[in-house]
Amino acid sequence: MKKILVTGGLGFIGSHTVVELQNEGFEVVIIDDLSNSSETVLEGITSITNKKPIFEKIDLKIKSSVEDFFKAHNDISGVIHFAASKAVGESVENPLLYYENNLNTLIYMLKEVLDLQESNFIFSSSCTVYGQADTMPITESAPVKPAESPYGNTKQIGEEIIVDTCKVNSNLNAIALRYFNPIGAHPSANIGELPIGVPQNLVPYITQTGAGLRDCLSVFGDDYPTSDGTCVRDYIHVVDLAKAHVIALQRLLNRKNDSNFETFNVGTGVGSTVLEVINAFEKVSNSSLNYKFAPRRKGDVVSAYANTTRANTVLGWKANSSLEDAMQSAWKWEQKIRNL
Ligand code: UFG
Repeated sequence: MKKILVTGGLGFIGSHTVVELQNEGFEVVIIDDLSNSSETVLEGITSITNKKPIFEKIDLKIKSSVEDFFKAHNDISGVIHFAASKAVGESVENPLLYYENNLNTLIYMLKEVLDLQESNFIFSSSCTVYGQADTMPITESAPVKPAESPYGNTKQIGEEIIVDTCKVNSNLNAIALRYFNPIGAHPSANIGELPIGVPQNLVPYITQTGAGLRDCLSVFGDDYPTSDGTCVRDYIHVVDLAKAHVIALQRLLNRKNDSNFETFNVGTGVGSTVLEVINAFEKVSNSSLNYKFAPRRKGDVVSAYANTTRANTVLGWKANSSLEDAMQSAWKWEQKIRNL
């Protein structure tokens, strides 16, 4: 049984990926510093898979802790590196926190991964690297545009760090997965998204409004050049996204990769407007959502959705769930955690 390290494995995407890895028979070790997650997520994972992953609470910013971890676990066959800060607004307020959290930790991890017998590395990247792409849908060869935020910059620089390291270390095999907008929860509703404070992202804001925690959703902008004036995004079910990680890992473990650094868009290929997301929520919840139009949000691009041909044909992965499936699972999760 191959042992896989998942950093940030108690977070939203990390926890769903741990479930899929365990379902595929991998032994999983989670590192998480619990800065934006809870140890109770371990119970959720265990209840779904009937297997408790190994968990170590480690702050990856402490280099010696990373070194000590790998001394004790030199039999790791692959690393999926989620651990990072991800709030765009916070990154603008506190850029050094973001550069330290997201880049120092990446460097410490890579140094250790290079010394493993099997140096397989999957990096959480983002469609934010494309900025407002000139053509839709976005292919992996679309130019990387100047980042809108320090958070986005950490994803761009993170990819560059890996590219440069791969160039001079042929034993290192890496894949950067560029996520579009992950939403939803495990269909069991035993794990899901747990935003701290007021949600910044659309779907948790919608479900919290539906659950009565928020009065009204503000729809940021109604005069964009789209079908209904609201922004377009590619919303992908987190379970589909989690499965993409397992397939990417298997590609590296089986040495099926074409080069030692590859990138893949992970989205559905379908663009949805904010109003379409609201409609999907209203349908699955059989309720009407209280929302109002508000000014545009700074930094929002008009439209971003993926061309998924590379992921479909080269990686052999495809998103299976619809927007409604994802909204259904997000609503089920919200109802469960609010005891509705
Ligand atoms: N939106 C609202 N109201 C809200 C929240 C969001 O109308 O209360 C709208 C946004 O304006 C946007 C859409 O819903 O049009 C999606 O917004 P999210 O915040 O959910 O997602 P983003 O597309 O802004 O965020 C994604 C990733 C981030 C990444 C960012 C880069 O989730 O990790 O793209 O732009 F940094």
